[in-house]
Formats: sequence, structure tokens, C-alpha cells
Amino acid sequence: MDASVLLALRDPAGVPFYPVVFQVLYVLTWALHAAFVLLALGSMGLSIYGTFSQKSDSNWKILTPHLIQTGKISISILIVLGVAPLLFTQVIYDPNWYVANTLSGMWVFIFIYTLIVGYIMYYWYYYANKKHEGGGKLIGIISFGILVFAGLLMHNFAVTSIMPNEWMNMYAPNGIVDNSGWTFNMDIVRLVFMVSLAIPVVGIFLQNYSRFLSTRKDFSSEFIKYTAGLGTKMGVIGLVISALCFVAWMVQIDYLFTPLSLAIIAGVAILLLMVGKNNNSYLTTIVLVIVALLISGMRELIRFNIMSNLGYSIYEYPVNLEIPTIAMFLLTFLILGGVGVAWLLTMAWKVGKNQGIFDGSKDVAVTKLGNYTLGIMILWMVIYFTWGMFILFNNIL
Ligand code: HEM
Repeated sequence: MDASVLLALRDPAGVPFYPVVFQVLYVLTWALHAAFVLLALGSMGLSIYGTFSQKSDSNWKILTPHLIQTGKISISILIVLGVAPLLFTQVIYDPNWYVANTLSGMWVFIFIYTLIVGYIMYYWYYYANKKHEGGGKLIGIISFGILVFAGLLMHNFAVTSIMPNEWMNMYAPNGIVDNSGWTFNMDIVRLVFMVSLAIPVVGIFLQNYSRFLSTRKDFSSEFIKYTAGLGTKMGVIGLVISALCFVAWMVQIDYLFTPLSLAIIAGVAILLLMVGKNNNSYLTTIVLVIVALLISGMRELIRFNIMSNLGYSIYEYPVNLEIPTIAMFLLTFLILGGVGVAWLLTMAWKVGKNQGIFDGSKDVAVTKLGNYTLGIMILWMVIYFTWGMFILFNNIL
């Protein structure tokens, strides 16, 4: 692939801020997306297993609906969090993202409907299981399969986008133009590694779940012990499987001895010790977040190197500084997002820790954070619309 083709595909308007900032935000937000993808797939998969034991086993009777609920919420969060890396990727790697979306256009359409159908069926599964213990098995399995398929499609877009040298062959195989939009590429080792991470993620989640509920009197110590033990088992076995898949992936692309790859392996080894001991799963989660960021960084390093070798460096993307836009974005992200998420998390934590019904209006921290969120939200809307109208009329009048 000639660099001039890639450079011609860039946005002539340039990027509104230094590309490295978008790159860092991409790595950060993809790790967040992946965290909820893995929690959704892991908790959903385990809940399906639970539906088979739920009727006869008192532990699974409690755990199964909680896992179904966790999966249900995680899907909505993963969708929201998927938008962020999508935006950053199309700012700095727009040639890649749009070519992949054009070559795989049919799959892009199918992806949207896959997600809609898969998520609606998940609700069916949720309600069927709520109605009858052990209910909704078949629907749950179908919904799980559909959502894994959505991940496979995402993988196709990611892999196709980093194959610029093959694009011409995909577009016109043997010189005959194929504009069907059915291009599909897979890197099975990479995919299996990504999806395998769902096992340790749900394992660590279960350790946190057990630790969190251990202060409540309405959950028996037997149940707390059972879920912690299950979490440890899944965490340890899952980490070993993921580590083997990771090494296989690194060997395949010849990255095994890069500092980042070695750091990930060291991170997994530390995780393995921490999960095995289960002294403090909240600390384990912090290490998991660091390892997730490193894995996200590895995906970016691979893409960055492929593109740099072809003469496309994101650091040379023309910058057309637009300070107000970036300031608005960062303030929204950090202040509105930060306070809003802090409010939701504080409330969720207190609801879970409280015995009986929790009244947020009587809690000082929740009330304060709620009021701040509301105030900042109103201010944000006033600034957003006033500024937008000003720019609009300034440009057209
Ligand atoms: C159940 C639904 C989904 C699953 C299971 C899923 C899973 C995945 C997986 C496994 C990858 C990594 C692929 C790879 O690197 O090989 C990925 C990447 C990604 N996903 Fe998702 N995803 C889902 C939904 C979404 C949605 C709804 C969005 C956007 C709104 C999204 C945005 C992204 C982006 C931007 C990437 C990175 C693409 C790239 O780097 O080229 N995902 N997803």
C-alpha cells in the first residue's frame, strides 16, 4: 500500500487537537469497553450454567438471577462505552475505520440488528428466568450466541482495518470489483484470547461480589464462601487459559519479547497470585484495570506499527487547533461525567450495603452529589445550546 493513498484518505480538515491525546483516550476508553464486554459475556455465560442448577442448589438459586442482572446492565454500559473508542479511532485512524466499514458494509448493517435482537432476547431470558426458576435456558443460550457473534463482527472490523496491504485484493479480487460489502476477516488466536478474558473477569467479579455482600446479614456465610471459592477457581483457571492464548498471539505476530508484551505477562502473573490468595479482591481489581490498559495499549501498538511502517504516522496528522471544542469535550468528560458517575456509584454502593430499603434523600453524600450533577447538567445544557446557536447564527447571518 502506497502511503499517499492512506494520506489522501485522511480528513482534509485535520484533527482539532494533538493526535497523541486522542490515542491515549482511545486506549483508555477501549479498555473500559472491553471490561464491560468481558463482564457481560462472562456473567451471562455463567448464568446459563446457573439455570441448570438453580432449582436444586440453594447457592445457584441466589447467584443465577444476580448474574443475569449483571450481564443485562453490563451490555448497556458496553454499548455506551463502545461509542468512545469508535469516535477516537475515526479521528486519528479514519482511513482504516472507513475502509473497513465500506468493505464490510453488509456486516455493519447486520451488526446493528444483531445487537438489537441479541439484547431484546436477553430481556426475554431475564423475564423468563424471573418467572420460573431455571427458566429461559434456550433463549439465554441463543441470546448469548448472538452477542458473541456481535463481538466476532467487531473483531472483523478491527482486523480488516489493520490490513491495508490487503485492501485492494479485498476490494477487487483478481481484478474484479466486489462491492458486496461481505468482506470478513478473522484472526482466530487474537479473538480467542480476547473472549477468553471473560473467564478471569467474571472470576474476579465473583470475588468482589462475595466480599461486598460479606457485610450483609441476609446472605449466609456458606453462600459468601461458595461464591468466593467459585471466583477463585474461575479466576485462576481463566488467567492460565488467557495467558496461554496471549503467548500464542504474541508468538504468531512476533511481539512476544517486546517490553509491553513482557509487562502484560508479568501483570498476569501478579494477578494469578492475587486471585489465588484472594486477600483483597478490590486491590486485585485495580491490578486487573492496569493489565486491561496494557492489553488495550498492545492493540494500539500493533496498529500503530503497521501504519507507521506504511508511512502513515498519526503524529503527523495535520492539527487544526480548536481549543474551545476540546475544552468543552474535556470539561464534559471530566466534570459532568466524573460527578455523574461518582453519584451513581455512591448510590449503588450504599444501596447494596444497606439492610432493607435505602432512602437516598436522607443520605448527605448521595443528596449532595445528586444536586451537583443536576446543577452541572443544567449549566452544561445552557452553555451547549447558547454556544451552538451563537456559532450557527454567526456562520449563516
Ligand atoms: C455485545 C456487543 C459487543 C461485543 C461482544 C463487542 C466486542 C468487542 C471485541 C471482542 C473487540 C476487539 C476486537 C479485536 O480487537 O479483535 C471490540 C472492539 C471494539 N468495539 Fe466492541 N463489542 C460489542 C459492541 C460494541 C458497540 C455497540 C460498539 C460501538 C458503539 C463497539 C465499539 C468497539 C470499538 C470502537 C472497538 C475497537 C475497534 C478497533 O480498534 O478497530 N462495540 N469489541
